[in-house]
Amino acid sequence: MARKTEFLYLSEEDTIQAGVLDAEKCVNNAEEVFKLLSVGDYLMGGANHNSHGMGIVFPKETPFPNMPVAGPDRRFVAMPAYLGGRFDVCGQKWYGSNAANPSKGLPRSVLMVTINNKDTGEPLAFMSANLLSAARTGAVPGVAARHLARKDSKVCAVLGCGPINKSCFRSIASQLPNLETVYCYDLFEDKAAAFAAWAEKECKIKGVASADLQTVMKDADVVTVAASRLKPLVLKDEWVKEGATVLVTGPVQFDQSYWLDTKIIYDNIRLHEAYVQEAIESGDKKAGYASVIGGPIYTLIDQGRLPALKESVSMGDVILDKGKGRTNNKERITFIACGMATFDVGLGYELWDTAVKKGIGTKLLLWDEPYQMRE
Ligand SMILES: NC(=O)c1ccc[n+]([C@@H]2O[C@H](COP(=O)([O-])OP(=O)(O)OC[C@H]3O[C@@H](n4cnc5c(N)ncnc54)[C@H](O)[C@@H]3O)[C@@H](O)[C@H]2O)c1
Repeated sequence: MARKTEFLYLSEEDTIQAGVLDAEKCVNNAEEVFKLLSVGDYLMGGANHNSHGMGIVFPKETPFPNMPVAGPDRRFVAMPAYLGGRFDVCGQKWYGSNAANPSKGLPRSVLMVTINNKDTGEPLAFMSANLLSAARTGAVPGVAARHLARKDSKVCAVLGCGPINKSCFRSIASQLPNLETVYCYDLFEDKAAAFAAWAEKECKIKGVASADLQTVMKDADVVTVAASRLKPLVLKDEWVKEGATVLVTGPVQFDQSYWLDTKIIYDNIRLHEAYVQEAIESGDKKAGYASVIGGPIYTLIDQGRLPALKESVSMGDVILDKGKGRTNNKERITFIACGMATFDVGLGYELWDTAVKKGIGTKLLLWDEPYQMRE
């Protein structure tokens, strides 16, 4: 017997109506996903179940006139996952990125998320995911701020003033009621100034832009790092205050002494084990490490100077067992987040669920009855 399949399409505006800019909702969703990661009720790509995703690698040169060639931030990446718990769906984020996009009036990357029936593969929802992806990325350090930051945190430093750090800061601010000031730093001073003005307007927190990294770091109780790779972001050990929480979402270089002193909490140690495995299998471990946020840490682990990943702590473990997180107000804690499709699927599911309940979005027909099933 053939069956009809319909799915819900959500435009960017529909995802806003469904709550993608609601920081508390997104942080709660990410916290739920972290718990599922901790107990292992999820799958991501690859035989190791933990691959970040798979991308199209553009060659430096090609004899074919239309084939894309390598360029700044130019890639396509597919990120599939199954997420268990109440979600119990498969899904995928698929995006294209190109640093030239803004000159065409487009964001650097254009992202879509699909949510599928885990048994049949039928689509349940297909949605615009620029805001979704930024919201899930920001919600992750939001969860870390909720569980790891000192409750009396008053000052935040934002390093890299792009859209991802806006989302990170919105989530972090939603979790720290005593936050008073945000210091903003970017390679481009106008971007830092625009971020400071945005923080005042949107989050009602005093924004201060500065071109001096040391000034920005000086009083920071919480630091959120989400700069791109235009230029390495290099931080000194002594710039990080006692008791600070450093939330790493983009690449950063610290003095070795900092990595050896701070307590490191990972988003999911199995993801980082997969990164290490993939770097080894690529035949160029050094290049593999250089391309991921955790690279400097993996090097110190290989040297036996930091505990092995399997002896380390993931965020979900901290949520389930508070003793694994902050134990005093003096320790410096660094949280490393590399992004996982499970968060796209978790938030995509949440937005779809809200949209269905509130009648948001456009129902689309896949088929009345599949052609291949007709008698
Ligand atoms: N961990 C995750 O889940 C995840 C997900 C999405 C994006 N990211 C990462 O977040 C970062 C930011 O993404 P985005 O979309 O906002 O990028 P973007 O390019 O739009 O903005 C990044 C900003 O960083 C600034 N910058 C670059 N180098 C800098 C430096 N050395 N010092 C200070 N500022 C610097 C740029 O001027 C720019 O304003 C990227 O590294 C991206 O790969 C991480």
